[in-house]
Amino acid sequence: MVQLTINGQMHEIEAEPDTPLLWVLREQAGLTGTKFGCGVAQCGACTVHIDGVATRSCVMPLEAIGADQKIVTIEGLSPDGSHPVQKAWLALEVPQCGYCQTGMIMAVASLLETNPKPTDDDINAEITNICRCGTYNRVRAAIHMVADGKAG
Ligand code: FES
Ligand code: FES
Repeated sequence: MVQLTINGQMHEIEAEPDTPLLWVLREQAGLTGTKFGCGVAQCGACTVHIDGVATRSCVMPLEAIGADQKIVTIEGLSPDGSHPVQKAWLALEVPQCGYCQTGMIMAVASLLETNPKPTDDDINAEITNICRCGTYNRVRAAIHMVADGKAG
C-alpha cells in the first residue's frame, strides 16, 4: 500500500511498484482525464504535474513517487475550469478531437509557471506534445494570449 497526494486528496494505492502512474491515476483513482497515447514518453498525452513539474506519467513508476509529492491532474488544475490556460483554450477553440489536449494544457500550465512570457523558441523547445489533429498554431496563440494577460 502506497499513499499518494492527488489533486489535494490522499489516496491509498495498492499496485505493483513498477506500475506507471498513468494507470494508477486512471484505474485506481478514477481520473480518466489523463490519456494514454504512446506509452514511451513521446506524445505527452499522459502529462500531469508532480510538484508543479510537467511529467509524462506513462513512464513514471509508482515507486519513484514520494508520499510528500503533490500530483495534479487535469481534474485538479482548477476547481471550475477557470485556469487561465483553460480560458484561453476555450476562447480560441484550441481542441479538435481533444484527445491530446489535457496533456497539452498541463504541459503549457507548467511552462507558464516557470516562464510566464515564453518566446516561440521557448514554446518549441518545451511543448513537445504531439497533436494528431495539428492544433499547434492555436496552442501557440493560446499560450501567447495567457502570457499577454488576455485570457481573462
Ligand atoms: S502516453 Fe505518455 S508520453 Fe505518450
Ligand atoms: S486535438 Fe486531436 S490529437 Fe490533438
